[in-house]
Amino acid sequence: MAKRLEVIRLSNDVRVIVHHLASSIAREYDGLTPVLLCVLKGAFVFVADLARELRSPVEVEFVRAASYGKAQRPLARPAIYGMPDCSVLTGRHVIIVDDIIDSGQTLEAVKAYVTRHNPASVAACVLLAKRLRRPEWPVVPDYIGTEIPSEFVVGYGMGDGEADRGLSGIYVVHN
Ligand code: IMP
Ligand code: MG
Repeated sequence: MAKRLEVIRLSNDVRVIVHHLASSIAREYDGLTPVLLCVLKGAFVFVADLARELRSPVEVEFVRAASYGKAQRPLARPAIYGMPDCSVLTGRHVIIVDDIIDSGQTLEAVKAYVTRHNPASVAACVLLAKRLRRPEWPVVPDYIGTEIPSEFVVGYGMGDGEADRGLSGIYVVHN
């Protein structure tokens, strides 16, 4: 059967959710210049909107994580690569920015790497949280945009493999 995309119902419009996240971050990092560490590829649209919505100084760095590969279920362990070197993390206020937390393994792996480089602080910000997995999360994000059911979603940077990342809305995939 053909793949069908259904618009997801979120607690609010994505722009409003990003605005609220940016306001909380701007308040808590007032006077600082945090480093937004974007977890590619899924978070590339989110970090672009978040950085612009912050309206205060930030730096942006990127790391690559592949937890789903081409599948719609996580691989056993996420592969993390392309980490920025320690000069951009040590002594800095780092905010890991990811699109979704599901099992929490990706955030755990990225946070462990950042922590080894002695940042001044490390926090995590996700747009979406699959709430049913929450009891298993090894790392609880400091900033969560909104919660969603445990369904596979695409759009707004999030891909089904490499498909559908460019959609501006967020959709549930029905295979
Ligand atoms: P976790 O490691 O199980 O928490 O999975 C989080 C990572 O998997 C995120 O970086 C996402 O990019 C990706 N991911 C999780 N759920 C989805 C989804 O529904 N669609 C697309 N990517 C997802
Ligand atoms: Mg990802």
